[in-house]
Amino acid sequence: MTEQHRFDERIAQEIAIEAQDWMPDEYRKTLIRQIGQHAHSEIVGMLPEGNWLTRAPSLKRKAILLAKVQDEAGHGLYLYSAAETLGCAREDIYQKMLDGKMKYSSIFNYPTLNWADIGVIGWLVDGAAIVNQVALCRTSYGPYARAMVKICKEESFHQRQGFEACMVLAQGSDEQRQMLQDAINRFWWPALMMFGPNDDNSPNSAQSLAWKIKRFGNDELRQRFVDNTVPQVEMLGMTVPDNDLRFNEATGHYEFGEIDWEEFNEVIAGRGLCNEERLAAKRKAWEEGAWVREAALAYASKSIA
Ligand code: ACO
Repeated sequence: MTEQHRFDERIAQEIAIEAQDWMPDEYRKTLIRQIGQHAHSEIVGMLPEGNWLTRAPSLKRKAILLAKVQDEAGHGLYLYSAAETLGCAREDIYQKMLDGKMKYSSIFNYPTLNWADIGVIGWLVDGAAIVNQVALCRTSYGPYARAMVKICKEESFHQRQGFEACMVLAQGSDEQRQMLQDAINRFWWPALMMFGPNDDNSPNSAQSLAWKIKRFGNDELRQRFVDNTVPQVEMLGMTVPDNDLRFNEATGHYEFGEIDWEEFNEVIAGRGLCNEERLAAKRKAWEEGAWVREAALAYASKSIA
């Protein structure tokens, strides 16, 4: 039996592929791309929320937000470690992100303009991330799947704290309700874009599904998110900014309008509202953190000696 046959059989039988196992070069490359981009998303995703740490409306909200932002850093670290098991160097993929040669999620290129944005990010953005990541708990590469299990538990806390913050605003003054609706209006469509292009325009999906890296197509997961979330919007007494949204009794699913794919393509090409600001912040942090890395290396070399 060839190595390729053994690999195919493991995939067919749902036996996880581990770091020491033989795998096709393209499988390894696809995983480094996806896990790397996922890690970058966690780290860049700290920025829009970090922006509100000093302006959270109470000590309780500040403590929750601080914990959430720190969790995102942890998620990035698990994911960089999972990527490293595939033989890439963390510094290399990080540098590619800083150079704009590797992507991170489009959603983090939108600004956080008011406090309601923070609630809505927890609820909608982490909510969308969970739908995608629960499916990835069964991805075929063992280290990625295992990282996802812990990440999903934390994302679930993030989603709930976000929804709870939104519930407080929904029960507040007219001004607070308006602020919440405004945040929903700005984040609804970008949250739907997190699932990627339609399946017909997704160059990586067919192969990733065959290798069981992805367990569902982009459209199926997006539909799941819409079906889960529309009732929550209604529960808050808010509306979805989509005139084409309607529940189809026959299918049991919501039908929704067309995503602005031009906007999506612009954002992933680096021309979104905050792309430049986000990368500039990460480059600055990398440069200003050089002395920490040097000190840690010097300490480690003395500890070994
Ligand atoms: N933002 C930025 N880039 C995107 C997005 C998005 N929302 N959706 C798709 N893309 C990119 C893909 O990375 C791919 O680019 P590349 O080939 O240059 O790498 C291209 O658009 C075409 O898309 P697909 O062929 O559909 O790509 P893929 O099969 O990788 O599917 C998806 C995209 C669904 C995002 C997948 O990579 C995935 O599940 N990733 C893991 C989850 C993740 O990264 N989540 C990040 C946000 S969650 C959070 O951090 C809180």
